[in-house]
This record gives sequence, C-alpha cells and structure tokens, in this order.
Amino acid sequence: MEVHVTGGTGFVGSHLCNKLAENGHDVVAVSRNPDESPVGIDGSVERRERDVTEAGTLDFSGADVVVHLVSLSPLVKPRGTTHHDVTAEGTRNVVEACENDGVDRLVHMSALGADTDGETAYIRAKGEAEDAVSVSSLDATVFRPSVVFGDGGEFVSFTKLLTTPYVTGLPGGGDTRFQPIYVGDLVEAVAETVENDEHTGETYEIGGPERLTLAEMSRSVYEAEGRSLVVVPVPMPLARVGLALADPLPFVPMGSDQYASLKFDNVVEGTNGIGVFVPVDELTTFDGWLGFEDGQ
Ligand SMILES: NC(=O)c1ccc[n+]([C@@H]2O[C@H](COP(=O)([O-])OP(=O)(O)OC[C@H]3O[C@@H](n4cnc5c(N)ncnc54)[C@H](OP(=O)(O)O)[C@@H]3O)[C@@H](O)[C@H]2O)c1
Repeated sequence: MEVHVTGGTGFVGSHLCNKLAENGHDVVAVSRNPDESPVGIDGSVERRERDVTEAGTLDFSGADVVVHLVSLSPLVKPRGTTHHDVTAEGTRNVVEACENDGVDRLVHMSALGADTDGETAYIRAKGEAEDAVSVSSLDATVFRPSVVFGDGGEFVSFTKLLTTPYVTGLPGGGDTRFQPIYVGDLVEAVAETVENDEHTGETYEIGGPERLTLAEMSRSVYEAEGRSLVVVPVPMPLARVGLALADPLPFVPMGSDQYASLKFDNVVEGTNGIGVFVPVDELTTFDGWLGFEDGQ
C-alpha cells in the first residue's frame, strides 16, 4: 500500500513510518522540516516538505490511506502560530486534499477529551479537527490517546521541566491521573488500522495498562536515574495565578492552558480501544520502559 503520514517526522510519526516501512508499504512522511526527527527514520521512507496550514499545497495523489498526525504540543505554549490554525484549519486542509486527490481512507490522530467546548485551546482545536473529519466524505478512523511515551517523546523532558530533583512542588500535589500508552503499542494499532479497513467509522479511546498520577510518573522518571523525588503540593489556585502570569512571557514554556490541562484526569472512561489491537496484559508499562520492573 502507499501510505502518506502527515507529521511523519515527529515522535509518533517516526515510529509509525518505520513500522509501516517494515511491513512493506511505500511510505511518504509529510512535514515542514523533513530532515528533522527525534528518532531515525528508515531510508526507504520518502520525506516531503509541506505545511498543512497552506491549503492547496498538499498532494496525496497515489495514497491508499492518509494518516494525519500533525498537531502542536499541548505541553508548551505555541509560538508564532495557534492550535486553531494548525490543528483545526490544518485538518480541514488535509481532509479537503484527500477528497480532491481521490483518497478514500483517513486515519486521524486526535486526543482524549477532544471537545470544541473544552478548557484548553489544544482540546478545542482537537474537537474542531474531529468535526472536520466526521462531516467529510472520507472513510475515517479516529484515535484519541492519553499521553504517549517512548524514545523521542517529550513526556519525560516535560516532567523534568515541571519538577526539580529530590523535592518539588506540583500543582495539586501532582494528583492528575494519566493512562500512558507506549508509542510502540499505539503504532501497532494505527498500522493495523491502515492495513485493515474493518476499523472504518470507529473512534478509539486509547490508554496504557495503568492509571498513574503525574507525581507517580515524575517519581519514576527520577528513580530511573537513581534520584528520589518528594512532591510538595502547590495549591491549584496559586498554580493558576503563577502560570497565568507566565502567559505573555515567551521564554517561559508553560502558561494558563498548561495549568488548565492539569485540572482534569486524562484517562479512558469507557472501553480501552487498545484492547482491539494488543492484549492489555501485553502492553508496555511506563516503569517497564524506564527500565525497572519486568515491564514488556
Ligand atoms: N505525544 C503524545 O503524548 C500525544 C498524546 C495524545 C495525542 N497525541 C497526538 O498524536 C499526534 C502526534 O504527536 P507527536 O507527539 O508525534 O507530535 P510531534 O512529535 O510534535 O510531531 C508533530 C509533527 O507534525 C509536524 N508538523 C507540525 N506543524 C506542521 C505543519 N504546520 N505542517 C506540516 N507538518 C507539521 C512536525 O514536523 P515539522 O515541525 O518539521 O513540521 C512533526 O513531524 C498529534 O496529533 C498529537 O496531538 C500525542
């Protein structure tokens, strides 16, 4: 099959392109800086320089399936662009290009909690993007993962940005819960969806095998380096004021949206869609990936 992956040079995209290439597909990775990637990309993957915000420049002709991954990180404040422009308008452009180029199938990467009325610009843009996909004529499958971890991911560096070793303050004591999913497990599910159209029309909420608080994950990150971490709660109202004050400061990577995203758990409420693709007891755990425990 010929598969075009927007954001194919990013964290999830690089792992996915490698998996699809390994499975024998012709893969095109689409992004603005095609030579940059947090992990190595197989030499057989064609890299194509495109910006999804530039309607009319996208070209998916020849593709059997497009996987749309482009988005901005919710963990840092956008610079020089907005979640709306990249995620909402960008998805509209991708959908339109698929329709114009005769591509029937789209796999769309959303996020848990996507909602046009959501609390953060990231979540609202993800909601708009899902709407653009659902009103299209495409045979689409939507994935809504919790936080994704693995080589080249930003979650570990994010926890370090948020904390200091040994003793740290975290908003609300870091009790926001996540359900981290290993990138290799997520990519397994996306590749299976590319290869098998029986998943058309489905929306899969995806989480890993455990629900962990931000404090627990932060402790694991430091323990993996032989360091301890004691978490001291920062009252949520204080964190809100502090991060709101940081909003206009470009050199501070976090702001009120990042505070808002810590107010809500990021876990699968209904059926965990990953079980359709990978047995849940075979999923890689966060601690297993970090190197302790007998994780997969
Ligand atoms: N990682 C997670 O924990 C997580 C959790 C839930 C959902 N997701 C979703 O999974 C998807 C992939 O996430 P990720 O962590 O792999 O993101 P990432 O590492 O930030 O990768 C983003 C990719 O999009 C490209 N890109 C950004 N702006 C673009 C534009 N205007 N036009 C074309 N390409 C553009 C980037 O390359 P250039 O900068 O070179 O263009 C890069 O290849 C996203 O939709 C994200 O919301 C991720």
